[in-house]
Amino acid sequence: MALDLVKRPDALAEAMAEAARLVEAQLDALIPATEAAEARLIDAMRYATLGGGKRLRAFLVMETAKLFTVNTTCAARVAAAVEMLHAYSLVHDDLPAMDDDDLRRGKPSCHKAFDEATAILAGDALQTRAFEVLAEEDTHADAEARCELVTSFAYAAGARGMVGGQMIDMLAEGKTLSGPEITRLQALKTGRLIQFSAEAGAILGRAPQAQRHFIAAYGRELGGAFQIYDDVLDEEGDAAALGKTAGKDAAQGKATMVSILGLERARAQAEHLADQAAAHLESFGERADLLRQLAKFTVTRKS
Ligand code: IPE
Ligand code: IPE
Ligand code: MG
Ligand code: MG
Ligand code: MG
Repeated sequence: MALDLVKRPDALAEAMAEAARLVEAQLDALIPATEAAEARLIDAMRYATLGGGKRLRAFLVMETAKLFTVNTTCAARVAAAVEMLHAYSLVHDDLPAMDDDDLRRGKPSCHKAFDEATAILAGDALQTRAFEVLAEEDTHADAEARCELVTSFAYAAGARGMVGGQMIDMLAEGKTLSGPEITRLQALKTGRLIQFSAEAGAILGRAPQAQRHFIAAYGRELGGAFQIYDDVLDEEGDAAALGKTAGKDAAQGKATMVSILGLERARAQAEHLADQAAAHLESFGERADLLRQLAKFTVTRKS
């Protein structure tokens, strides 16, 4: 069954759609609507998380979890936690104080649909809910595994990860960074969470260190490819396809690989990193075919 799946050309699209369906159901259940006084906050959290996005990080969690025969519900809870944190990062990234973007996932950004205070609070609450979900017993029977998930997730999300990268991104506006400086900026702001998403399946599956190492290397290179290609899309895409405003990086003087290398060399670098990512999966054989296809998708996608 699994092999039949990977031989079909649309196997990746189908598997991503299935992961998206599972994570959507988890998000819906983990962030229940309420009629309490704080309902507006919950509505904004649901607005920012449900019904949109490629769910690439969710798919990474689900697919690496399969490599280590992890229970699907446990993996879907971790996938939901990652998507909550990612959604929070997007809600805050779009705020006027940051990228000031009015469009996200083809609809008004959270602060446009609600208001700035609500968007800030929704981001805060999505982040804490994500950690709560990882720490809950339903996520893994073994407390040590849950602790490891929480620690790795905090590293990926915090000052040495996404938030640190966002700080460098803001400070770099209007400045010319070197290639290595941009690589580090991107590894922090985007790479760490993508790497965690890949590693989460191995953590859940209590995988041996050697296998953890290969999955981490795959996630790290994939994350690099992903952000460079995001910058390529910002330059050459259009809002209708992207579901977010195009051309903003150049307009805001963002430090991107496109800004220092130009479009075609940046694209080539993204493709090179995607190939490197796939090469780390060799020891997993055919079982990692969809993860290899995901690397290709990362640098050919339209949104
Ligand atoms: C966008 O991420 C923000 C970056 C880290 C570049 P995605 O392109 O994964 O956004 P969604 O989840 O599909 O909307
Ligand atoms: C944002 O990078 C990364 C995070 C939200 C952590 P971008 O600012 O390039 O993301 P988009 O292009 O707005 O999605
Ligand atoms: Mg940004
Ligand atoms: Mg942005
Ligand atoms: Mg971008």
